[in-house]
Amino acid sequence: MLATGTSPLTKTDSYEALSHELAEAIVKQLREKPTSCFGLPTGNTPIGCYKLLSRYSQMGALDWSRAHCFQLDEYVDAAADEQTFAHFLDSNLLGATNVPDENRYSPNDYNNYDELIESRGGLDLTVLGIGHNGHIAFNEPGTPRMSWTHSVWLTESTRHANKSYFGGQTVVPRRAVTMGIETILSSRKLILIASGRDKQEILERAMLGNVTPEVPASFLSLHPHVTVITDFEV
Ligand code: PGA
Repeated sequence: MLATGTSPLTKTDSYEALSHELAEAIVKQLREKPTSCFGLPTGNTPIGCYKLLSRYSQMGALDWSRAHCFQLDEYVDAAADEQTFAHFLDSNLLGATNVPDENRYSPNDYNNYDELIESRGGLDLTVLGIGHNGHIAFNEPGTPRMSWTHSVWLTESTRHANKSYFGGQTVVPRRAVTMGIETILSSRKLILIASGRDKQEILERAMLGNVTPEVPASFLSLHPHVTVITDFEV
């Protein structure tokens, strides 16, 4: 069982339940503070939650008009717009909401993303997936704690994991820009989501092992308000 001192664990029974837990946390944040700044992930894990949030938004149950949404990361050299994370977020969530266009931010579009985040009041809630190699956003193994938004070369394992979005590894971009560890830790609240047994081992290393740049997600255990939501036993 995961230590619950600083990392409350919500273990759900299914991917659907994980999606509901995450959606509930985002809805709560938005209702309590309509001007919230969210750090939002791409990837497969949040898709179920995004479907729920899209549905609630289209029903008129959520008002995002004063919220700010920051992408965690973005490819630098995507071959087409449809391959960008901006496109992913737009088609899976933001397009169904009333988040104003000017309140949607990609790290690719700004020279100083961290200052931009600060100027909007700082991140309130940041949601993160975890890669099989322990990455969070595109902070790959070896990323030091003292890192702000920066550009990175992607590892082959990450490019391989993402190739389903590109129809073949040869066209998966090699470079990206990502919030750094300090950017992520600056968020008032963090939620780490992990679905499927294949994430169990790395999640346990991240949350129960040493804090080390070799497992970037391990830095999350330094944060006082991190919640981990899984659909498997830890
Ligand atoms: P996934 O990606 O949600 O598609 O598993 C997580 C990640 O690599 O950050």
